[in-house]
Amino acid sequence: MAKRSIRIAIIGVGNVASVFVQSLYSPKVGGIWHPKIGGFSRDNIELVSSFDIDKKKIGKDLSEAIFAPPNVGLKFANVKKIGIEVQPGILLDDIPKHLAVDAVGTENFTDLLKQSKPDIALNLIPSGMQDTSSEYAAAAIHSKCSFINATPASIATDKSISTKFASSKLVVVGDDLMSQFGGTAFHKGILDFMNSRGLKIEKSYQLDVGGGNETLNTINEDVKIAKRDIKTETIAEEIPYKFKTTAGTTDYVDYMGNNRTSYFWIVAKSFFDSEVKIDVYLRTNDGANAGNVLLDVVRAVAKSQKGHHYGAQREICDYGFKKLPKPVLLHHAHAEFLKKYSK
Ligand SMILES: NC(=O)c1ccc[n+]([C@@H]2O[C@H](COP(=O)([O-])OP(=O)(O)OC[C@H]3O[C@@H](n4cnc5c(N)ncnc54)[C@H](O)[C@@H]3O)[C@@H](O)[C@H]2O)c1
Repeated sequence: MAKRSIRIAIIGVGNVASVFVQSLYSPKVGGIWHPKIGGFSRDNIELVSSFDIDKKKIGKDLSEAIFAPPNVGLKFANVKKIGIEVQPGILLDDIPKHLAVDAVGTENFTDLLKQSKPDIALNLIPSGMQDTSSEYAAAAIHSKCSFINATPASIATDKSISTKFASSKLVVVGDDLMSQFGGTAFHKGILDFMNSRGLKIEKSYQLDVGGGNETLNTINEDVKIAKRDIKTETIAEEIPYKFKTTAGTTDYVDYMGNNRTSYFWIVAKSFFDSEVKIDVYLRTNDGANAGNVLLDVVRAVAKSQKGHHYGAQREICDYGFKKLPKPVLLHHAHAEFLKKYSK
């Protein structure tokens, strides 16, 4: 096995973390999108610590915690004991109702993080936790590790935060992970194709229904609106003119587990203003949909760090995340990412 040289601390051992951990410890993983990024393969990624605030996960070995309720993610691989216990994290926001909490102060957390000597901290806590995510980013700077923010909190897009990472010679990327083939990527992809075929897009919507704690959390009105705004904005950016569009999570169905169904409706005009309508749905698994992008982003951040490119790295943010300072086309973002990180 290749030397594991990218040291990762996971913050938030939920459904996305579960798939990520399984992908590092399973002997075989089918469907890897980019086997090498930045000269690294998945075998180069090593987990060194993990944090959560859920009493059901703290103190458990990571191999057990990733399958502990309320996680509902699929079991793709048998993970043997890893030897990393989940430690308590910090909490500065309201907690999702379903959690029994055990948290520590920032100083204690920073000490724990420092002890594990990570290169990168990976923020996978729920949506709607701006203050906690900002505090984790600050703790990463104190611990001298780079930071990946998969949550919709403003971290990499916050100039004052990204400047602090840059001046500390660290990398920060985010915000709000873009799934490999989730509703947002699919919606942007269809619109781009219709536009490239000369159709004039008039209206579109995307309504997501899912299970999993993140969906339960997202139907909370404030979080729902914040997430809907990010998704809607990134979709609107795909087309060079204004049209009516809305995209967001509309409901939680507990027995769907970590699966999601996204319903799309698009109306466009063709020759003689004749109408073209699309009415389709897409079924995906949330955790698995994050897996490839996370593996890519982790390795690209490690390459940036190694090459002394600090602060918010545009090509990584554009490729792997939805909330961006400047609009970018999906296929362009992927091409630019590969140009810089495929070797
Ligand atoms: N494909 C995807 O699933 C996808 C796509 C885009 C963005 N995201 C983002 O990734 C993040 C994780 O998603 P998920 O489905 O794994 O969520 P989840 O709810 O399954 O997991 C979140 C975990 O964080 C823990 N947690 C809560 N507060 C914490 C705190 N203060 N400190 C440490 N841990 C804390 C919870 O106990 C839970 O274990 C979310 O912010 C989500 O918006 C996921």
